[in-house]
Amino acid sequence: MAAHQASPSQFMYLHTCPEFQLFLEYTPTAVAMFDRHMRYMAATRRWLTDYGFQQESYIGREHYEIFPQTPDKWKTAHQLCLTGCTENSSTDSFVREDGSVEWVKWKGCPWYDCNGEIGGTIFSSEIIIESKYTQEAEIEKQTALATTIKDISQPNCAETDVNHSEAQFRELYRHTRQAALNAQKQAHQLERTIEELKKTQTQLVQSEKMSSLGQLVAGVAHEINNPVNFIFGNIVHANGYVEDLLNLLKLYQQTYPQPTLEILEEIDAIDLDFLMMDLPKLLNSMKIGADRIREIVRSLRNFSRHDEAQMKAVDIREGIDSTLMILQHRLKATTTRPEIKVIKDYEPLPLIACYAGQLNQVFMNLLANAIDALEEQWIQGNYAICNSQLALRASGCSKSSVLQESQIFHPKIRIATKMIERDCIAICIADNGSGMTPEVQKRLFDPFFTTKPVGVGTGLGLSISYQIVEKHGGKLYCRSKLGQGTEFVIEIPIHHLENT
Ligand SMILES: Nc1ncnc2c1ncn2[C@@H]1O[C@H](COP(=O)(O)OP(=O)(O)OP(=O)(O)O)[C@@H](O)[C@H]1O
Ligand SMILES: [Mg+2]
Repeated sequence: MAAHQASPSQFMYLHTCPEFQLFLEYTPTAVAMFDRHMRYMAATRRWLTDYGFQQESYIGREHYEIFPQTPDKWKTAHQLCLTGCTENSSTDSFVREDGSVEWVKWKGCPWYDCNGEIGGTIFSSEIIIESKYTQEAEIEKQTALATTIKDISQPNCAETDVNHSEAQFRELYRHTRQAALNAQKQAHQLERTIEELKKTQTQLVQSEKMSSLGQLVAGVAHEINNPVNFIFGNIVHANGYVEDLLNLLKLYQQTYPQPTLEILEEIDAIDLDFLMMDLPKLLNSMKIGADRIREIVRSLRNFSRHDEAQMKAVDIREGIDSTLMILQHRLKATTTRPEIKVIKDYEPLPLIACYAGQLNQVFMNLLANAIDALEEQWIQGNYAICNSQLALRASGCSKSSVLQESQIFHPKIRIATKMIERDCIAICIADNGSGMTPEVQKRLFDPFFTTKPVGVGTGLGLSISYQIVEKHGGKLYCRSKLGQGTEFVIEIPIHHLENT
């Protein structure tokens, strides 16, 4: 398929190569690659920060959609590049959304596909924060202002001189104000940059922590795996041996129905009938226990997927299930609230090429938030469990306070997976918990935004999840109603990996 016919999600094939990702991350200049329709195919981290790209996905989006104010001269330059020209400018102004102006130096050229046809353009740019010209002009103005002030303050200064100097003074005052405004703008810009840097630093620390946690989990799971398999394998044999021994014992009893007094005393002492009945049950429960440990270990390994730094085609539902397994202890009924029911509504899905460990981290964040919201709703509703019946805590658990079925709160999480387009899947995680106010919904994905008490929430869960989904070329959004519940939707394009 020719590059200009590619659908936006297909640009993602470029991003499946980890080395290419590293190239984008670490290239020290701002470079972006476009198709023939000026749709973004790739851009270096520097480009994204220089031009203030927010958290939304940019791949496949048209440059003019992101920057509707793009001046005609640049559109013309883009067109010229598509005809095979190389365009550049050593000083050009770039007006940001907030009206501030920056000076940039840029260069653009076409790129050619394997058939030798122009597939699109590549642009590089550099922001020149303070040009030499403005610096020098500023110094000149400041010197002139100082001279004028000195002149006016001379006692023998004539009236005409004063008028002339006054006009000059006004002019210089205007320039100085402009310079002050520019300085203010730059300070504002610097503040924003520092803010951005702080955010990035915290996110890096958080992802580093998650990666160490993943390594630890994967390591522990690996170490437990061997002895558990050993126990599990031997229990099967032990079961067979015990069965044989018990059969042999029965045969002895049938063949020698009159045992000696000593044997009879021993049979009595060890309570042989109970032992023969209990031993197989005991072995069976040991087998169930070992089986469960094996399952947990498998989930832990699956969850951390620490060994998979590359994109791999996986069954998304397995990731959700292993995350649920890890959160099992939080879903169970407690002495103060009933069990949280999980309803799975899984539609068959193809394998999805993704960073499985990272997507599991997203499921973990969304599910943990849903559990928190259900617990909050439970506390706010002032419910309590009394003799296995649901009652209002306020009414002191008396029989008369038992609620009607319609009044009873059943905490639930519904997880649905479905295909939404030919090349896109959606995972919906919905809870009937506390829900959110529109104000909370607006700030939801902001780093450090949390409504939880200090020490409980860091407010990073959703912002990191957003970035992970974005990295997969997908979308993460939420619908919520205060007091009724919340639904998070993850949409991910299906990338086609070679040899999967
Ligand atoms: N399912 C949900 N129901 C209601 N509110 C939610 C839900 N998910 C998130 N929120 C709100 O969004 C805020 C931000 O969530 P986020 O996961 O980013 O941080 P956190 O849960 O507060 O802390 P952390 O995840 O870092 O421990 C939460 O504090 C909460 O107010
Ligand atoms: Mg959270």
